[in-house]
Amino acid sequence: MSLSHHSPSSDITLRINGTSHPMTIDNRTTLLDVLRERLALTGTKKGCDHGQCGACTVLVDGERVNSCLVFAVTAEEREIVSIEGVAALSDGGELHPVQRAFLDHDGLQCGYCTPGQICSAIGALGEAGRGWPSHVTEDTAAGMADVAELDAREVRERMSGNLCRCGAYNGIVEAVLEAAGAEGAQDTATVGGAR
Ligand code: FES
Ligand code: FES
Repeated sequence: MSLSHHSPSSDITLRINGTSHPMTIDNRTTLLDVLRERLALTGTKKGCDHGQCGACTVLVDGERVNSCLVFAVTAEEREIVSIEGVAALSDGGELHPVQRAFLDHDGLQCGYCTPGQICSAIGALGEAGRGWPSHVTEDTAAGMADVAELDAREVRERMSGNLCRCGAYNGIVEAVLEAAGAEGAQDTATVGGAR
């Protein structure tokens, strides 16, 4: 990255869904605005634009982040995955197992929050797969032994940063639980964690 103290702009290259995107951007541009306004990756949604709704969630090096809170210049040399790229994380399927589970359990109504929910769910499964406890994990020192240990309470807590104005929460919880227990859940956890 070429960053000048005298210039409000930087030349950066962002790696998104496996493709490198060189660009010159105003240093104050958020990752969310780069995705939507510069690269037309409009699957990532803008809800509140200040970190409260989760609609803008993407994966950065396998961790879920609110892209409205990230300056794009800080994301250089990171591996960014938006909803347009999540299917490619799974083994050759047209859809990621979490996407499939959302369809199977009616985890969406209008769909506005869905890209963020799905990215967040993939990140959450990765966290659980690495043993991270949540606020409601019984033994926080021991953490989670396996993603298949997740129950509805855990899923609700871990997904609590993602709001759904349609109230599709029951379907979302069922979808995440199915993805957690589904064959390939460990792969999902690995993909969400090790990259
Ligand atoms: S748009 Fe980023 S959290 Fe709401
Ligand atoms: S499905 Fe409409 S906001 Fe969640």
